Amino acid sequence: MRQLPPELLENDIDFPEGAPLQASDGESRRILAGVRPSGRQHIGHYKGSLGSWKNFQKEGVHSDFLIADIHALADHPDRPDFVRQNVLEVATDWLALGLDPQKANFFVQTGVPELESLTALFATMVTVARHERNPTLKREMEVLRSAGGRDLTVAFYTYPVSQAADILGPLGDLVPVGQDQRPMLELTREIARSFNLQYGNRIGFQLPVPQVRVGEVGRLVGTDGKEKMSKSVGNDIGLAESARTLRQKVNGMASPNKGKSDPGTVEGHVVFQYLDAFFPDKAGLQMLKQEYERGGVGEGTLKQMLLACLEDFIAPIRESRAEWEKRPNDVKDILRQGTTNVRARVQETHEKVREAMQLGI
Ligand code: TRP
Repeated sequence: MRQLPPELLENDIDFPEGAPLQASDGESRRILAGVRPSGRQHIGHYKGSLGSWKNFQKEGVHSDFLIADIHALADHPDRPDFVRQNVLEVATDWLALGLDPQKANFFVQTGVPELESLTALFATMVTVARHERNPTLKREMEVLRSAGGRDLTVAFYTYPVSQAADILGPLGDLVPVGQDQRPMLELTREIARSFNLQYGNRIGFQLPVPQVRVGEVGRLVGTDGKEKMSKSVGNDIGLAESARTLRQKVNGMASPNKGKSDPGTVEGHVVFQYLDAFFPDKAGLQMLKQEYERGGVGEGTLKQMLLACLEDFIAPIRESRAEWEKRPNDVKDILRQGTTNVRARVQETHEKVREAMQLGI
């Protein structure tokens, strides 16, 4: 097993822009990225983190991309078919986006049962008080409680620990996530550090202390302009959205009711938030904003511009997806292969962790 160089043990949480993707031992950093399969991927996922997965791949870094099916089942305990279907949908979206399974392992959480065991072992290192000091978890639990608590499962409650297992099991040391997932990484780092100190040192085995890379836009707002983009809220734009639905969604975006030549406010304007995220010509956008604030640009024009640039972004993904949809068995083979590869590595980690914790016979 790899001896970790010091920078993978003592680092700051943020992976600095432009930092080298090679560790000092010459090996590449290990990207570990994941999503829960509770729907197709949307452009919010892309801006939040998927986009950076793609960039990392360009640089040829080792990557493992996880589909966290237990997390999805924890959210939708009564919908196993939905979760199963979405495992395939997510993998298909990734392929359509151009993530390359030759350069990365696409893997499924439940295909690596040692992750569950690691979850149980890591859970012994986290107090309830620490666990509950997690703003994202707190907020998500409140939402589920206010909906009657019917879907608030124990599995949901423990997902941050399970996420630590997902990352540390395959020895991931660089995790691209959306801003809301940062508290999960803080917990993962604490688990790694306390494991190393309390147990790992004894047998000379160390877990990496992973860093995060937060996406370009930490949190893309939904088309309603209110909440974070999410398929379940229905305010999302799919990565492979049909041209027709895309048009409807852009036209349906909330925008101020003002005359064409009335001055407008850019701040908080949904359409501008999307233009900020997707419009390629930043200088042109700056001019457009000034023009809008002076009162020379109508809402219709803004929406047309947004529609055109989203269509440019989405069209190739939509086309490629249509091809992959014809080959579900190839998609499944890709998942099987990636899962086998990652499992071998997680099994090694799992053995070491058990040994370090003096467990077993
Ligand atoms: N919790 C993440 C989300 O909801 C998904 C996830 C599960 C994940 N395991 C992970 C992300 C490991 C990064 C690394 O989006």
